[in-house]
Amino acid sequence: MFNSLNKISVTIKSEIKNIKDLTELNNFKSKYLGKKSIITLYFSKLALVNIPERIQCSSILNTFKRKIKHKIIQKKSSLRNRFLSDQAQSSYLDYSLPGRRIERGSLHPITMIINEIKEIFYQWGFVIYSGPELENIYYNFDSLNIPINHPSRSMGDTFWFDSNHVLRTQTSSAQMRILKKYSYPIKAIVPGKVFRRDFDHTHTPMFHQIEGLIVDKSISFSNLKWILKNLVIKIFKKNIKIRFRSSYFPFTCPSAEVDIQNKFGDWIEILGCGMVHPNVLKNFNIDRNIYSACAFGMGVERIAMLKYSLSDIRYFFENDIRFLKQFV
Ligand code: DAH
Repeated sequence: MFNSLNKISVTIKSEIKNIKDLTELNNFKSKYLGKKSIITLYFSKLALVNIPERIQCSSILNTFKRKIKHKIIQKKSSLRNRFLSDQAQSSYLDYSLPGRRIERGSLHPITMIINEIKEIFYQWGFVIYSGPELENIYYNFDSLNIPINHPSRSMGDTFWFDSNHVLRTQTSSAQMRILKKYSYPIKAIVPGKVFRRDFDHTHTPMFHQIEGLIVDKSISFSNLKWILKNLVIKIFKKNIKIRFRSSYFPFTCPSAEVDIQNKFGDWIEILGCGMVHPNVLKNFNIDRNIYSACAFGMGVERIAMLKYSLSDIRYFFENDIRFLKQFV
C-alpha cells in the first residue's frame, strides 16, 4: 500500500498541475476520492488486516485523503483567480460603465403630508393621539350628538362590523377617547384612517383625516381661526387665500367649513370645524361654565391633491411607481 500510495502521489502532483478548468477538477476529484477510487478500495480492505496494522494504515490513508482534498481546494481557488484575471484582460469588460443602481424607496406622499402636519402641531404643543379604526358606535356617533336617524349611520354610508361597531367614519370618534386618557385642559390631534362607502375620482372607501381638539378655559372661535389659518400657510408655504364658511355639524355650534383657493380661483373645501356643541361637552362631562372647546377635522388627501395639483384621489392608492416616484 505504501509503495502504491507513493506512486499515486507523484501522478497526482503532475495531474493536478495540468488541470485547466472546473470540469477537469471534478473528474480528478471523483477519480481519487470517489466511490471507485483506489483510496476507497484501500479503506474497504482495512477490515481484513489485524488491528495494529489497521490503525496505522487508516491513519496514513486519512492523511493522504486530507492532502488530496487540500490540493483540490487550492486548485479551485487558483482556477477562479485565473478566470477573473483572464476576464479582466479580455476586452468585453468595461470598468468605466456605470453600475446598476438600486432604486431607493420613499415614504408615501400621504404619509409625508401627515408627518409634516404632525410636526407643525407638535411645535404648537399638541399631543398626538391615535384611536382605534374599528370603533364603538358610542364614540363614532352617540357621544358626538349624531342622532340615531342621521344618514351617516346608514348601511349605505358606513361599513358596519356588527350592531355596535363600525369602521370609524371620522377621526372625531377619538375626541372622547382623548379626554378619557388625558383629561383637560388639553390640545391634541388625531391623524388616522377613516372609512366610508364611497368611490369616485374624489372619494375612496379609505382615506385619512386629522382631527384636532382643544379644551381649555376661554377658548374661542378666534383661537380656532388663528390655528387653521397659520396651519394652511405653513402647509402651502405661500400666502394662500382662505375663507371660513358657515356650515353645520351635529357636534359643533357654531360650525364652519374652511375653503382655500386653488390656482384657477376655485374655492375648495379642506376641513370642517367649530366650537364643540354643549351636548357634546355634557357627554364629555366638561363644565361649560369654566371650560370651552373647539375642534376641527381635515381630509389629508384633499390637502395633498391641492398641494400637488391632482385631479384624481385614486392615484394615491394605485401603487403606480411612476406616480409615487415624483415624491421621492
Ligand atoms: N368629522 C367631520 C367629517 O368627517 C369633520 C369635522 C367637522 C371634524 C367639524 C370636527 C369638526 O372636529 O369640528 O366630515
